[in-house]
Formats: sequence, C-alpha cells, structure tokens
Amino acid sequence: MTPLTQRRAWKALEAHHQKIKKLHLRDLFAADPKRGERMTAEAVGIYLDYSKNRITDETLSLLIQLAGESGLRERIDAMFRGEKINITETRAVLHVALRAPRGASIVIDGENVAPRVHAVLDKMSDFSSRVRSGAWKGHTGKPIRNIVNIGIGGSDLGPVMAYEALKHYSDRSLTFRFVSNIDGADFAESVRDLDPSETLFIVASKTFTTLETMTNAHTARDWSLKGLGGDEKAVARHFVAVSTNAAEVAKFGIDTANMFEFWDWVGGRYSMDSAIGLSTMVAIGPDSFRSMLDGFHQMDEHFRTAPFDRNLPVLMGLLAVWYNNLFNAQTVAVLPYDQYLKRFPAYLQQLTMESSGKRVTLAGAEVTCETGPIYWGEPGTNGQHSFYQLIHQGTRLIPCDFIVFGQTLNPPGRHHDMLVANVFAQTEALAFGKTPEQVKAEGTPEWLVPHRVFEGNRPSNTILAERLTPQALGKLVALYEHSVFTQGVIWDIDSFDQWGVELGKVLAQRMIPELESTAEPNLSHDSSTNSLIRRYRRLKESSGPDPAQQ
Ligand code: F6P
Repeated sequence: MTPLTQRRAWKALEAHHQKIKKLHLRDLFAADPKRGERMTAEAVGIYLDYSKNRITDETLSLLIQLAGESGLRERIDAMFRGEKINITETRAVLHVALRAPRGASIVIDGENVAPRVHAVLDKMSDFSSRVRSGAWKGHTGKPIRNIVNIGIGGSDLGPVMAYEALKHYSDRSLTFRFVSNIDGADFAESVRDLDPSETLFIVASKTFTTLETMTNAHTARDWSLKGLGGDEKAVARHFVAVSTNAAEVAKFGIDTANMFEFWDWVGGRYSMDSAIGLSTMVAIGPDSFRSMLDGFHQMDEHFRTAPFDRNLPVLMGLLAVWYNNLFNAQTVAVLPYDQYLKRFPAYLQQLTMESSGKRVTLAGAEVTCETGPIYWGEPGTNGQHSFYQLIHQGTRLIPCDFIVFGQTLNPPGRHHDMLVANVFAQTEALAFGKTPEQVKAEGTPEWLVPHRVFEGNRPSNTILAERLTPQALGKLVALYEHSVFTQGVIWDIDSFDQWGVELGKVLAQRMIPELESTAEPNLSHDSSTNSLIRRYRRLKESSGPDPAQQ
C-alpha cells in the first residue's frame, strides 16, 4: 500500500485543508441555510448530524476518495469474506459472524461457522433461562441470585458496559458484579455481601491464562469452597467458563460441559456479542440478547453495503482521520447523554486504542502519520461541570461525539427535555461560540471581554436514536467498531492485534518471584527498578495492623 502521505487523495486533502482550515462554522452555516439538514445521514434508526464539523462538500468528497484509494471497499469485503486480515496473528476477523442470522453462511478455512455460532447461542440461552428461572441450583440446592463475571479487557469491559447500558431490561432480582483488577480489593469488595451458596462465577477469558483473571478465579474458587464446606463438587454448580481454551478450563476444574466456546477469529475487544456476553444474556434474557445481536447485524449490513457518502461508520471514521491527521487533534471526546451509557467511553477506550495504537503499517514500515487518537469521555451533563471548560475555551481542538436518545427510559418529570436541551446547547455553543461583539453588547467591562469570549468553531457529531434498547446498543457498538476499522484501513495498520500489551505482562511475571521470595533476590534491573523493588520489600515487611480494624 502506498504510504498515506503519498496517496493522491491525501495530497489533495492537505492542500484543501490549508485552504479551509480557518473557515468558521458560523460562516459555513450562514452560507448554506440547509447545511444542518443536508450534512446528516440516517440508517438503521441512527441519525448522524455531522454538519457541525469543519468540513465542506469538497472535504467529504476528498475523504471518500481517500477511502477508495486506501482500498476500504476491498478491505470491508475481505473482512466479511473471512480472510485473515489480522496478519500478525494470521487470523480472520469475524465478529460480524457472531451476529449473522441463523442460516447465514460465513466460511473460514472451508467451514461455515454460522451453525457453530448459533449452537453456542442456543447453549447460552438454555443456561441463562435456567439461571433466571431458578432451575439451575447451587451446591446446597438454593437458586442462584448473584452472578460474578471474572475477566479483564475485552472479557470485562464489554460485559460491564452492556450490563450497565441495559440495566433497565435486566432481571432486578439478580445481582451482577464484575471483577477484573488484580488488586485484591476488587474481588473482596465485589463479594463481601454475597452468599457463596447463591453465587455463580462466570470465568471469562479467551486464553484462560490471563494473570489477573486466573488469579481472581482461583481466589473465587477458594472463597466458594470455604463457604460451601470444601466439597470440590461444588465447583461444577458455581463456576462456568467462557473461553477458546478447553484444556485450560478443564485444568482449572470446570466441567467443559459448562464451558461456552468462542473462537480465535473473535478479538477480545470485539467479543461482547460472543459467549463473553453470557452475563449480559443472564441479565437481560435470551430474547433481548438476540435483539442486541440483531442491532449489531443491521449496522454490519449497512456498513457492508451503503455507499460511503451515506455510510455512518465510514463517515465517522473519515472525520476522525480528518481531525487526527490534518488538524493534529490528539483526542476524541465521547459524551453520551444517557446515564446508562456511563461505561461506554471506557469500553470504547479499549476498542479504539488497542485497535489503533500502532506505529507500523501492515507491511511493518514506520507509519508516515499519526495513528489512533485518545478516546475519552463521561456521561453528560456531569462532564459539563468538569472538563467542558477546556473543550470550549482551551487551546486544544477536541472533536466530540454527543450521543442522545429521543425517549427516556425513566419518564417522570422534566429531566429528559432538560438533558436533551443540554446536548443541543453544547453542540451549538461549541460550534458558534460567542463573539467579542456579543460579549460587549451584554455590558461586559472591556477587561473581562477576552475571558468571556467563546471562539467557537469546535467540531462535534450528534448521534441521535429513538431509545436505548438492546438493539440500539448493538447498533451503536457496531457503529464504533466499523469506524475504527475504517480508520485502520486509512492508516494501513493491523487494527486487530495488541502486541503492545505483552512486554509489561512478561516483565511482571518475572518480577513476581522477586517481590515474593523470602530470601533477598539478586536484582539485575535498572537502578530505579531495583531500588523500587527493595523499598517495596521493606515496606511490606514493616506493615502494621489495618487501622480500619483497630
Ligand atoms: O489486554 C490484552 C488482552 O489480550 C485483550 O485484548 C483482551 O481483551 C484481554 O487481554 C483479556 O484476555 P483474555 O480474554 O484472554 O483473558
């Protein structure tokens, strides 16, 4: 692939950027009264208003040219065909197969995987229904009331985000907890008020070797057995696994009959709709889970078939590239105006940054441009009273995605109109600002005017859907998945590997014995690391009683 900066459309975009970079959204809107209706796209029930971006029609057509020249169409087709586009791991990338309808045909290495996907979904449905109805009994014969998902990264962020997002649809008689951190406090606080005889652990790990998950799973096993009288048979009633690794699951002591399978062509950060979503299915029930999958699938089909100028993920991906590479914006703020989406920005951080945090191209050459921007955010309106100041009046350009729904799930009172008014007001204020003339006309003393001016011209997308349903969540997640895909194609990177997390893992494994050994270890790290280890060992030895217990 020709390096990005040498592609024809890129060069044209750079020249175009020079021409229009100072254009103000005020002028763009004034010159085209229909801009706010025209620069929008709608598909599968999601409305995207991208008119408040610093673009013209020419920008869009050049970005779409860039997508064409970068081979986006071919790469989309290759992904859906099951080609091994994750080249550094020689794997297909087929999260889209997880939500393909029954009867679909998606072939990898000569095998149609759709029937296997649906067999696992059926097994999950059966299990979830038994837990929800109380038919699945714990070791002492009591029904399960608490479900604890143990996993990390993609095996945690998707489940916890989906549980929070879809809480409205969940069985409120069940308690859900999510344990991820190796910090013992996470496990301890998650189970402190739970009864082991009513608690089921879902150990969710693609590899079933991840340090955090396996440590927490062993602690959970001890906690469970201690609370259940030590009978090893209890494990089968209180532990199930979600994994690609049956051998390790069996080694842990979980009956592989209670294992829910997925496959190496599902990346961790793309797995919330696989068996990794078992906790989601137990929470909301099999029908709602399938409705979420249907939402994913609708967006997949839209992405696969819609022309680029009306393709929501393509438009969002190209706009992300425009700010990241032409305006040198370093971050993207994702601002859901929906309390249920409070974990959505955290979920997106793994999806976007593990995918796009790459510095070499598919061919292994240094990239010639910046890649993945930093994604961050908080639900509105809380963020307005904290970091929005910087977005409005700081020196950095921060493109924002505002997400909002037309209908609330909690109707009483005026909350929803007020919430929505805040979204629209923010996007308006960011785009149009407040000129010195306007500030002066309010009677502001001269010296205060610069402080009260909003220069505006701060770009945003508004994503509007009818209401937060399981189906809408599926569409929203797929929208971002495919936007990330689009960005990765332009940058010519492997969006599906994550070698960057390896080094720290390996070093930590080597260091654990140095921290734990009773004899003074022979340290051969750098002087900083050596003295930190020594200091930690001294601190550990000198630890007194817990002040909370005194
Ligand atoms: O952080 C790296 C990573 O491999 C993620 O991609 C993955 O989601 C997470 O670790 C957990 O891995 P596993 O599901 O194998 O425990």
